[in-house]
Formats: sequence, structure tokens, C-alpha cells
Amino acid sequence: MGEDRRDMRIIIMFGPPGAGKGTQAERLQEEFGFLHVSTGDILREAVERKTPVGLKAKEYMDKGELVPDDVMIPIVRNKLEECKDVPGFLFDGFPRTIAQAEMLDEVLSQTGGSIDRVIYLNTPSDVIVKRLSGRRTCESCGKIYHVVTMRPEIEGRCDECGGNLVQREDDTEKTILNRLQVYEEQTAAILEYFKGKGILLEVDGALPVEESYETIRANVMQEKA
Ligand code: AP5
Repeated sequence: MGEDRRDMRIIIMFGPPGAGKGTQAERLQEEFGFLHVSTGDILREAVERKTPVGLKAKEYMDKGELVPDDVMIPIVRNKLEECKDVPGFLFDGFPRTIAQAEMLDEVLSQTGGSIDRVIYLNTPSDVIVKRLSGRRTCESCGKIYHVVTMRPEIEGRCDECGGNLVQREDDTEKTILNRLQVYEEQTAAILEYFKGKGILLEVDGALPVEESYETIRANVMQEKA
């Protein structure tokens, strides 16, 4: 990542599983043209293609554990290096450990860039369990739905591409509870790291999608400091 990236927007969607990171990121990508980098989607694609990374990641994802940093860090480093012609990056599900956050800072600092917003969707566990157990995702384009709050026009079919809507393998009650515990034990501590940098925007993740989006959107519209 050789060239100057001082003006590039680097936004992180942060929060527990099911907080709405992917849902809000879809809207920001559509409105601002940022590249949506979901490490969960990248891993699920690798699992589907049965690549060496996918085979290793699956062991962890099925249990709701974090995939080790030595697998995750090169994936994101490559993404930053490959994608040069975008107005910004929208990270969703990354970083999840202090080592991942430090690597991102280090790679960005080599080009004068920096993280400019961390959007923290603060969402209680009871809301999360309801959301994740009702989530459906398009297996072709990845668009996110919910059986109660975000229904497609035709049952089981994606409004955008007509693809099949499926339930994620890690959205079973047992795995959801473990993902929440892993978030509390290994990921939530990064909030302090971001708070210390003065770049954190806390949003009530339990609000309806459009209400949370209005707050996020207004904040993202502000110029990079
Ligand atoms: P990942 O895919 O990142 O999953 P996650 O963090 O658990 O987050 P989710 O995708 O489940 O939730 P979300 O916050 O995006 O919610 P969504 O918008 O879909 O990671 C999966 C696994 O991969 C991890 O467990 C780990 O193993 C591995 N992994 C990934 N990144 C890694 C990393 N960096 N390091 C190590 N391991 C990594 O919304 C959920 C549902 O709620 C939807 O149905 C939606 O329609 C609905 N909804 C959303 N917002 C609202 C709202 N405001 N009101 C009502 N309904 C809503």
C-alpha cells in the first residue's frame, strides 16, 4: 500500500454479533460508495470454495470462536493493498482483537491514513438473540433480511436478485450464545482502544434500522478531521 491515503475514509462498524453492522454497512456502501469489507463474508466465501483458509476457518466459525489473528491479518492486509480506487473502506467485523486493531493502524500509518470513525452499535443481548434467530441472507448477493422486521416481497426470494434466502449455519441458539460470550471476552475491550483515540460514535443499535442510519449518516457526512 504505497500511495498517499490521507483523504481516504476508513470507517469501522463495531458491535456484538447481530447488532446490525452488515445492515447499516449495506446502506452506507450504497449512499457513499465505500468498499464494504466484511471479514465474515470473506471467510464464508472461502469456506464455500473449500480453500485452505476456508477449511481452517470453518473449525472456528462453526463453534462461534474467533478465527486466529495469523489467518485474519493477511486477509485484510491484502484487501487494503489490492483495492486502491475506492473513496473509502467500511470494515464490518474487523478488527476484533487488539492485535487486529494495531495491524490496521500500522498499515494505514504507512500511507498517512488513519481510521476516522468507529461506529459502535450498542445492542442488548435479548434483542440480538431475536435478530439472529430470524435472520435470512441471500445466498447469491448476501443481502440481509429478517423473518419479522425485514421481510422480502416474495417469501424465500431476494428482492434484489431473486436468489434463495438461507439461514446462516452459525445462527443456531447454542452458537449465538457462544458468539456473544466471545465478543464480551475478546472483542469488547477494543472499545477502550478506540475511545482513547477520540473516534468512537456510539449509536443505540436497538432502534429501528432507519433511525440508527440517520445518526450514522449525519456523522459520516462530516468531513474527515
Ligand atoms: P461475522 O459474519 O462478522 O458475524 P458477527 O460479527 O457475529 O455479526 P453478524 O454478521 O452476525 O451480525 P451483524 O451485526 O452484521 O448484524 P446484521 O446486520 O446481519 O462473523 C462470523 C464469524 O466469522 C465469527 O464468529 C468468527 O468465527 C469469524 N470472523 C469474522 N471476522 C473475524 C475477525 N475479524 N477475526 C476473527 N474471526 C472472525 O443483522 C442481524 C439481523 O437483525 C438481520 O436479520 C437484520 O435484518 C436484523 N436487523 C439489523 N438491524 C436491525 C434493526 N435496527 N432493527 C431490527 N432488525 C434489525
